[in-house]
Amino acid sequence: MTEQNLSLTDEIKRRRTFAIISHPDAGKTTLTEKFLLYGGAIREAGSVKSRRSQKHAVSDWMEIEKQRGISVASSVLQFEYNNFCINILDTPGHQDFSEDTYRTLMAADSAVMVIDSAKGVEDQTKKLFQVCKMRGIPIFTFINKMDRKGKDPFELLEDIENVLGIRSCPVNWPIGSGKEFKGVFNRHKNQIEVFDDGNHGQDIAKSITGEVSDEKFNTLLGDALHEQLLNDIELLDIAGDNFDLDAILNGELTPVFFGSALTNFGVEPFLESFLEITSPPSPRSSNLGDIDPNTNNFSGFIFKIQANMDKNHRDRIAFLRICSGKFEKGMTVTHVQRNKKVKLSQPQQFVAQDRVIIDSAYPGDIIGIHDPGIFNIGDTLSEKQSNLQYTNIPQFAPEHFMRVSTKNALKRKQFVKGITQLSEEGAIQVYRQPNGGMEELIIGVVGVLQFEVLEYRLKQEYNVDILMNPLPYRYVRWIENDLSKFGKLSMTMDTLLVEDKNSNPVLLLQNEWSIRHLLERNEGLVLKETSL
Ligand code: G4P
Repeated sequence: MTEQNLSLTDEIKRRRTFAIISHPDAGKTTLTEKFLLYGGAIREAGSVKSRRSQKHAVSDWMEIEKQRGISVASSVLQFEYNNFCINILDTPGHQDFSEDTYRTLMAADSAVMVIDSAKGVEDQTKKLFQVCKMRGIPIFTFINKMDRKGKDPFELLEDIENVLGIRSCPVNWPIGSGKEFKGVFNRHKNQIEVFDDGNHGQDIAKSITGEVSDEKFNTLLGDALHEQLLNDIELLDIAGDNFDLDAILNGELTPVFFGSALTNFGVEPFLESFLEITSPPSPRSSNLGDIDPNTNNFSGFIFKIQANMDKNHRDRIAFLRICSGKFEKGMTVTHVQRNKKVKLSQPQQFVAQDRVIIDSAYPGDIIGIHDPGIFNIGDTLSEKQSNLQYTNIPQFAPEHFMRVSTKNALKRKQFVKGITQLSEEGAIQVYRQPNGGMEELIIGVVGVLQFEVLEYRLKQEYNVDILMNPLPYRYVRWIENDLSKFGKLSMTMDTLLVEDKNSNPVLLLQNEWSIRHLLERNEGLVLKETSL
């Protein structure tokens, strides 16, 4: 995919690496598919109907793969558009929502937040938004399904500001909605773009563009819509937040776009503006300070490990986000955490059509490397600086807990091995009661499907049957204080003190009231929702 003879600087400049976040059914898959259509990576968008029945337990990429016959069964997808090289990271939704979903956001430089115009901001979007906010990455809002009857656009802006607490600045404003959704008004260019119905979003939508005052729009839109648009524009000028590039890039202001991923109306104007406003990969923080992508030292970090579900091949693929320098196939690098040299001989990339072995890759790109069981989430690989470590990926708070043990005491060793491996992959979090053994563990997960995966994989890969008993906890808080100095905690009966895999003290709680109680009764106690 990469064009020849471009310098490292030029390759970095044309890269955009982002995640799409949304609540299930808001239209993330459809929008991704339309990006591919506009990028020329697929020729025709298929009908996304009839997918509902298959929706459980498979990732969205697999859905696309099945439907379109293209291989995108991975967490990342690369394609080209207008000379930009785009990496989209999947944040799985539905039942396979897991800690992986959060961690993927660590590898993204920005996020596109897809909102259903009839529903406004929904739960899963809120959770993912919080992670983006914590990282301070730019968040772009695409309000989707404008071809259906939805909420008033002004109300949607208010919803974003009130529920998410981020200021918003509309860049493209919708002209009409539902059956009357005709196009968008670009506030920057002061231009109207009216779309042609075409063949229901299967092809690129044709459009007519022009000045707001152009008389042709009176006929195209009809007097009433044109009039309404002029009124809206006036209102926006008084009421909306001003466009402020710095605030956008710092994640304090979200530019808002309206459209319909189904009919393609507003998709390309969004993509164009988004690519223009977002920045290419920028310096990343590490123990050695910020690392400039444009250096002669290849480096990156692992943000996801995907096990091969094939029982006969227990190898895994580690997903590495390149942060600096040029990657070349066969290169030998230092695996910093183990202080060992590793040769990256079969690097894979996930290009729109295929999973391919690549020769080179650049900052912003994600490559898949073979993992014989040596990598952990958050590990750094570096060509020249063997002590470079990118800032750790936090452990996110699980929301579901089970007490887990092996059915057969003789299988204890395999049980511990399997649990350890799954925890290294980051699929589950393991807690122990202080002074407790390994026979019975508390497992926490972000998405409830992970328990099924745990049971399945322990059986398939380690031949271990397990017993699982649900626990009533919903919240985890890591204790920042040194407990030996802090003394005994005053806590409610339904709170449990445990240790995480690094022996850090952790509290499992059932409700927010217990958290408040803890903070009120234990002055100076510092609790955190994530752990580094
Ligand atoms: P997701 O990945 O965020 O879960 O959403 P996905 O793209 O799968 O879209 C969910 C449903 O919403 C799909 O309908 C899809 O066709 C529809 N959809 C997506 N974008 C738009 C849009 O801009 N306008 C309209 N009207 N619909 C859109 P489905 O699964 O086939 O079922 P159904 O909800 O139509 O019954």
